[in-house]
Amino acid sequence: MNKFFLNLGVQPLANNFQKKYSANQPRYNLKLYFNTKSKMVSISKRIPSSVMFNSKYPYRSSMSSTMRTSFKQLSNEIKIKFNPKLLLEIGSNDGALLTHFDKDIAIGVEPCKNLAKITKAKKYYTYDDYWDFKLSSKIKKKFKEVDLIYSANTLTHISNLKDVFKSINLILSEEGVLIIEDPSLLECINNNAYDQFYNEHIYVFSAIALKNLLKRFDLEIFDIKNLPTHGGSLRYFIKRKKNKKFNIKVSVKKQIYKEIENGLDKFSSYKHFAININKSKSLFLEILNKIKKNNKKIIGYGATAKSVTVLNYCNIDNNLIKNFTDTTPEKINTFLPGKNIKILKYKKNILNGYDYAFLGAWNFRREIINKEKKYVKKGLKFITHVPFPRILK
Ligand code: TMP
Repeated sequence: MNKFFLNLGVQPLANNFQKKYSANQPRYNLKLYFNTKSKMVSISKRIPSSVMFNSKYPYRSSMSSTMRTSFKQLSNEIKIKFNPKLLLEIGSNDGALLTHFDKDIAIGVEPCKNLAKITKAKKYYTYDDYWDFKLSSKIKKKFKEVDLIYSANTLTHISNLKDVFKSINLILSEEGVLIIEDPSLLECINNNAYDQFYNEHIYVFSAIALKNLLKRFDLEIFDIKNLPTHGGSLRYFIKRKKNKKFNIKVSVKKQIYKEIENGLDKFSSYKHFAININKSKSLFLEILNKIKKNNKKIIGYGATAKSVTVLNYCNIDNNLIKNFTDTTPEKINTFLPGKNIKILKYKKNILNGYDYAFLGAWNFRREIINKEKKYVKKGLKFITHVPFPRILK
């Protein structure tokens, strides 16, 4: 049974960056639910994939050095541990991982045509299509089977999880490995990071919920790694139940134990989370209003999908945060979805004239503060809302 626990208000599509601001852009209710049986946390309103993931999708995996390093390390780990003959990446984006492998052993699946074009141009076999049973059957016909499937921050964006795993089951070899990587629900709850929820993130997985789900497909998790990416993610290593090549590592039990200890299997914990999020909103607004009263200027740093959730939930407008800045070409000179706040191109002197910078990309906090050391010395202060709203010292 799905039980409601948090209302994040009416939200625009988190990656709908428009050249002209319009108050009438489509908006949808964003409500969070916990399923008492499967233990899965999901959002209420499901927007069709074709509306969200199209040829204008602005998110690029290669945009930050943190992510580039993470993909490079992972590709080395995959080569050493699994040495795949054929690898498939679901949601290959701009090829940040794929391109670390030889062209003849790596296949990409990327429905956003603007991104698929990038790996196609580098001669990587790329399907610019949505991941489903039809596509999996097509790949099976051509390649028979794959022995490694990798997917980061993609499967949780697909509403029909049954179809997702049925399609994986169809082409994964008997001894094949599935690696999936997504934000960790435990980190999200402990950080009060309600901004992990937006229309694209239909689910935020816990190891508990994923384990329950995989059971239905005779798949099981044999290792889990905690990662700092996206504000705290989990990398799950998954195999077929009957595959005895890999032992189940203690990391799996450890993660599940931690999640139970933190109450992720109980509805009451989510009600508690909702109370914290209400408090987070009041405190954040208090801080921003105080800064405004002192006639100081704030810029948003990193026009992330996450910051769209925060600004729309907290009803923050350009009277509180003047502008945003971002390095992504597709976001420059557009407006933050739902808000009359212009996104300026990132350049060296962009922070001149601002007293505070709100960390929209708080998941890159270290990388950003390090990059802007010169401004911090001159008195610029960073603001974050995780795990609670505050001005960083
Ligand atoms: P993400 O949090 O969804 O990964 O998106 C990060 C966004 O932040 C992306 O739009 C790029 C932007 N960004 C900057 O503009 N400057 C930076 O230094 C970093 C690390 C990210």
